[in-house]
Amino acid sequence: MLQITNLVKRYGSDEPVLKNLSLTVPERNVVSVIGASGAGKSTLLRCINRLVEPTSGDIELNGVNLTKLRGGQLRHARQRIGMIFQGFNLVERLTVMENVLSGRLGYVSFLRAAFRRFPQADIDRAFHFMERVGIAHYANKRADELSGGERQRVGVVRALMQEPEILLADEPTASLDPKTSEQIMALLRSLSEELSLPVLINIHNVTEAKAYTDRIVGMRYGRIIFDGAPTSLDEAAMDEIYAGTPVDDRAADQAAGRPLETVPS
Ligand SMILES: Nc1ncnc2c1ncn2[C@@H]1O[C@H](COP(=O)(O)OP(=O)(O)OP(=O)(O)O)[C@@H](O)[C@H]1O
Ligand SMILES: [Mg+2]
Repeated sequence: MLQITNLVKRYGSDEPVLKNLSLTVPERNVVSVIGASGAGKSTLLRCINRLVEPTSGDIELNGVNLTKLRGGQLRHARQRIGMIFQGFNLVERLTVMENVLSGRLGYVSFLRAAFRRFPQADIDRAFHFMERVGIAHYANKRADELSGGERQRVGVVRALMQEPEILLADEPTASLDPKTSEQIMALLRSLSEELSLPVLINIHNVTEAKAYTDRIVGMRYGRIIFDGAPTSLDEAAMDEIYAGTPVDDRAADQAAGRPLETVPS
């Protein structure tokens, strides 16, 4: 279970990008995070895997407070967070198998990795998941020879190789055609169920979010202003999520007695 409490992220001395945000995602819960560009969706995911440092607040994954970890403990926790990217982030000149096994790098010693000698158990695990997502026959193909949908499947398998306790996906389907997007969304949904994982997906396509996720979280300029079932995301909620500007929000904060200075820095 992921439990975020009063998360604040401020870049430099600017207005916070995340403002006292709290969110709980249990196992087998697939959550879409929607919201206008700049709402803070990517910052939220990056705070979870500590690619950016939260300014304050707590992020607990299965009881471990990620915000307090340093050094080896942080590396270990990060290893258990599977990240899936819009641009796939594969090593183009390496094969599918090599890309997938790179998900094990936190577990395999440097020397073994340098000589590409992975334990048989890792190779078996790789084939198991490649078969699961339908790319096993591409194991020896170079990543740059694959289509977008195939690449994203490689990205998903690489994340699964980490034995993740959560999957975080930042616009995983934004570079894919509509049909392939749906397949990837369906895949993430079934993997959440099969592996009992919480899944958090940043996504702009609201139709896909509604069709393939259990729950929708609507962000607006650093706050969660909607959190509910896809069926309860009506037009009024959509307007609230997507209408307005940061300036409107600043005025609303002030009118509601939430001056920015009260946000811890
Ligand atoms: N490294 C950074 N330094 C300073 N400001 C940043 C940094 N990263 C993001 N921001 C700012 O934080 C805000 C939220 O950005 P973020 O990327 O989280 O938005 P987003 O909701 O993911 O948007 P999009 O839908 O376009 O991906 C933006 O105003 C952005 O300019
Ligand atoms: Mg983003």
